[in-house]
Amino acid sequence: TQAVGLVGWRGMVGSVLMQRMLDENDFSLFEPVFFSTSNAGGKAPAWAEGAGALQDAYDIEALKKLPVIVTAQGGDYTTAVYSKLRSAGWDGIWIDAASTLRMADDAIIVLDPVNRPVIDAALKRGIKNYVGGNCTVSCMLMGLAGLFNNDLVEWMTSMTYQAASGGGAQHMRELLTQFGLLNESVKLQLDDPASAILDIDRGVLAKQQHADLPRDHFGVPLAGSLIPWIDKDLGNGVSREEWKAEAETNKILGRGEAFGTAPTPIDGLCVRIGAMRCHSQALTIKLKRDVPLDEISDLLREGSKWAKVVPNEREATMQQLTPVAVTGTLDIPVGRLRKMSMGSEYLSAFTVGDQLLWGAAEPLRRMLRITLG
Ligand code: HSE
Repeated sequence: TQAVGLVGWRGMVGSVLMQRMLDENDFSLFEPVFFSTSNAGGKAPAWAEGAGALQDAYDIEALKKLPVIVTAQGGDYTTAVYSKLRSAGWDGIWIDAASTLRMADDAIIVLDPVNRPVIDAALKRGIKNYVGGNCTVSCMLMGLAGLFNNDLVEWMTSMTYQAASGGGAQHMRELLTQFGLLNESVKLQLDDPASAILDIDRGVLAKQQHADLPRDHFGVPLAGSLIPWIDKDLGNGVSREEWKAEAETNKILGRGEAFGTAPTPIDGLCVRIGAMRCHSQALTIKLKRDVPLDEISDLLREGSKWAKVVPNEREATMQQLTPVAVTGTLDIPVGRLRKMSMGSEYLSAFTVGDQLLWGAAEPLRRMLRITLG
């Protein structure tokens, strides 16, 4: 069996990736070599029977020995190591969760249930870099593959409701700490049914605005609030997260200038909310033609086996179309499907996906399996 180098397996995305690989028995297909940026020489994880000591993730000579490297260590690591490794003559397959190399001409964004033909063609051409997509984009495409792959989308807007986990593990902790402190600050009044709700509200606001509420990671309070800006300011009114929607979707689908075709316009507004690890999105889709809703539902179901159509009814929506319902599953429910008042070619939809599964770990472990044949 082939050796595969694993970097960043201990972090949040890495841990989800390892768990999925264990669940799917992936480790029977290759010999894992575990790397560490901080604990070289330490013990490999207990569940990886027979794996040797941890190797230094910055040791180019050690990395060079691996025909395949999978990293969930993050963008700084990719920046620090990737070019050096290639300059040293390494010719292996690089599978990466970070965005650093995503838009490079010699990198493919992997989401094989949606773009397997793009991946297969790239492998044939000798492309060596395979990068997981932005979480929002990957989750959206896993839900809407049926519409995109049947070329039904003229344009789309996406308004997102993105979870704390997109920022990282520390962001999740900070959100929960904020929730706890807000509750604590009005606990006595909350326990007293006779207290006035506007007093409680005032107390919460005072705590949110107080300088001692921890906010190092988000920069502002998120608990009981929201933040309509994610990632860098591109200086043109667009956030980097918003820019990714059109750029990455088209690249994943093999469309746009680089492929000699017109890109599908996708634009919208990305918002951080106080959910834990599921990203949700409200979509407005301009269809290329008037397709009846029952056909749309069929196309969505056929689009990928993980896309689940939720009836556009109150109870089904409340039970099935929420972060709480979806967290920890590979399902991508798509609901709130209806034609809008603008006309029968305007489709409204809402979708939810686990940002750590289809949004990060799952496309990488599936790409590793494709690589191993
Ligand atoms: N940029 C995403 C977010 C996460 O902040 O939610 C990773 O794709």
